Amino acid sequence: VKVKQIITPADKVYTIAHRGASGYAPENTIPAFELAREMKSDSIELDIQLTRDLVPVVIHDERVNRTTNGTGYVKNMTLEQIKQLDAGSWFNKAYPMFARDLYAGIIVPTLEEVFDTFGSNMNYVIEIKEPLPKNIEVILNDSITKYKLESVVSIHSFSASSLQRFHSINPDIPLYQLVWNDYTATRVTQAYLTKVKTYAVGISPNFQGISAAYVAQVKRAGLKLMPYTVNYQLNMDKAYSWGVDGVYTNFPDRFLEVIATN
Ligand code: G3P
Ligand code: CA
Repeated sequence: VKVKQIITPADKVYTIAHRGASGYAPENTIPAFELAREMKSDSIELDIQLTRDLVPVVIHDERVNRTTNGTGYVKNMTLEQIKQLDAGSWFNKAYPMFARDLYAGIIVPTLEEVFDTFGSNMNYVIEIKEPLPKNIEVILNDSITKYKLESVVSIHSFSASSLQRFHSINPDIPLYQLVWNDYTATRVTQAYLTKVKTYAVGISPNFQGISAAYVAQVKRAGLKLMPYTVNYQLNMDKAYSWGVDGVYTNFPDRFLEVIATN
């Protein structure tokens, strides 16, 4: 039986630069976020880990090995130790076609350095990573409120419990439930969407697991939907035509082009 597809266009379709414009610059660094801004991306997505001295720093992995010249767990290093690391030379080696001298020696930014750099002229999509550091939700909320950025921040996480905790601390910040393939097209239930709606405004699924019918189902449930990580225009075209509210992409310029030509 073919599922009837009701496609409701989104009011505004957001371009979310995934780890910054990370297709072109070292992920989760100020140059990657600056490039996203230059490209006129609506939002930057950034991943947070906590240092040993409990400072939120912007880095995707639990360990520094992949994206810096160091080794070890972020949680075992002080901010001072993190600041010694080179977070850009790996990119120049891996992607010589996009290599730039200024990336060599670039530092891992703290969350507050990113807030300082971009202020309220940017939308931030901040990911709380698992395993969850103790009190991460309180620490993150403190930074957001200290910089008075409540109106331009949203939080997303694969951890429902972390989002629920955040919601109880600050119900005004929009939350998005990240899902891998466990709650996408083949397995999502109305009960699951109803539960997500008690704490989140939307769901961010893996693009590979979604379909037009799935987008329609999520939107009918009153949730926003922003799939990750959509890097090819063929898939961006599909996502856009299905009525998504935004996409996460390493190439914000490509999605902005798709939006402009639709
Ligand atoms: O950030 C959205 C989604 O891509 C989550 O996965 O591994 O890129 O943080 P990851
Ligand atoms: Ca992320």
